[in-house]
Amino acid sequence: MTKKQNDSASIKVGVIGLGTVGQGFVRLLLKEASHLRQRLGFPLVLGAVCDRNPKALSSLALPSGCRATSDSREILADPEIPLVVELMGGLEPARSIVLEAIGAGKSVVTANKALLAHHGEEIFGAAARHGVDLGFEASVGGGIPILRTLRESLAGDRILKVSGIINGTCNYILSSMSRDRVDFGTALREAQRLGYAEADPSFDIDGIDSAHKIAILAAMAFGSPVSLPEIPVEGIRHIQAIDIDFGREFGYVLKLLGIATDGGESIDVRVHPCFLPEETSMLAEVDGVYNAIELLGEALGPLLLFGRGAGGDPTATAVMGDVMECARGIFHNARGQVPALGVPVSLRVVRPLCPLSSITSEYYLRFMAQDQPGTLSYLSGVLGERGISIESVIQKGRQKGGSVPVVVTTHRATESRVREALAIIDASPHVTEKTVVIRIESAPMEGSPS
Ligand SMILES: NC(=O)c1ccc[n+]([C@@H]2O[C@H](COP(=O)([O-])OP(=O)(O)OC[C@H]3O[C@@H](n4cnc5c(N)ncnc54)[C@H](OP(=O)(O)O)[C@@H]3O)[C@@H](O)[C@H]2O)c1
Repeated sequence: MTKKQNDSASIKVGVIGLGTVGQGFVRLLLKEASHLRQRLGFPLVLGAVCDRNPKALSSLALPSGCRATSDSREILADPEIPLVVELMGGLEPARSIVLEAIGAGKSVVTANKALLAHHGEEIFGAAARHGVDLGFEASVGGGIPILRTLRESLAGDRILKVSGIINGTCNYILSSMSRDRVDFGTALREAQRLGYAEADPSFDIDGIDSAHKIAILAAMAFGSPVSLPEIPVEGIRHIQAIDIDFGREFGYVLKLLGIATDGGESIDVRVHPCFLPEETSMLAEVDGVYNAIELLGEALGPLLLFGRGAGGDPTATAVMGDVMECARGIFHNARGQVPALGVPVSLRVVRPLCPLSSITSEYYLRFMAQDQPGTLSYLSGVLGERGISIESVIQKGRQKGGSVPVVVTTHRATESRVREALAIIDASPHVTEKTVVIRIESAPMEGSPS
């Protein structure tokens, strides 16, 4: 649809899903109508809203002329609506609705990270084929403008690494465990009481939500499709307060990170808890429900974007930025100028994900060792035989049952070698429990991105 076809020279938007983000977006659009008009040079009009829940539809004071429906097909079939905003979440029917809208020549804005992480290839391909715009800024980091920064502002630089605190629930839990010295269960219950964690928190605490977001970030940063099932993911439900305390003694703060590193032929993408050096890491300072994403550009160096990673109003601002960009494309008859991932789909170079076994990292290892002479030399011997050199050791006094925590940090080592050594140690009579392993992530501005 072009400016000439649109009788009032306005762009009509159809919104599907009026939950937390949808309500925030509609409120913003109605409240800031004149500001948006001034910025765009033409009015942005709420053409129709859809939700299956009648309460959601009746809770907003909709302008006259805006249709309210529980049937998304009414929006998809309306030729007066060239721009669809999908805010219902989930995989189906969201996938079919987005593909149908694109197929009908409509530009689409979505905040749906799960949808893009699972079906991004299909959706990006469809948008390119139909020459429409696809905005998904709100899918990563809520209100933080990370995707546009990667796609446009840093389009000319090579991104070497992206790492971030991209799940506010996990960051809240780890921050309270550290600050209040409480265990995981207590911190989780408090997060649930405050509305920061769902009744079923698995999606967040098992790292799945972070995996969706790092898949999108990596695809944007490196211009390569990223296969979600191949991303190694470890959540935080096994984290114990004792390790946060020991980490503090070494000067580390524990965070759940999504990490994506350019490895040349391959890309290293993963989600797991990490110790970060308190003194030098910008991410180490990010507490509570906040999100932050750190980039390392070859020419730019490090950059930190910090802000609210969720919530109706912050996320609505990201949706609105995309809606305005799409609306300009439609109004000026210039859709599909900037590819959704910053690289034309046909020119992308597909790079495999690097297996976790081949990554290198520094490690925090907590052994529960038999309190007997020779144990420390046994542990260091097994590690040393596999080329794993110890950086520092903390050994505490005797605990119940005669075992003592022996905590070791290592210099950089290969994951497969560490796992080999731990398989031997954990099967030996020198330890009484499975060893706790937490990777240590050096701050990127300190040097090597890997
Ligand atoms: N909330 C955030 O802070 C945030 C931040 C960034 C991104 N996101 C993403 O934004 C999207 C929306 O999140 P949200 O938190 O706003 O979700 P939400 O509060 O659950 O809202 C979704 C709304 O869509 C409705 N809906 C679901 N399926 C529908 C269908 N088939 N037809 C019509 N309506 C349907 C739901 O109705 P019912 O109530 O009946 O289910 C609900 O009213 C998700 O993809 C989410 O991942 C959210």
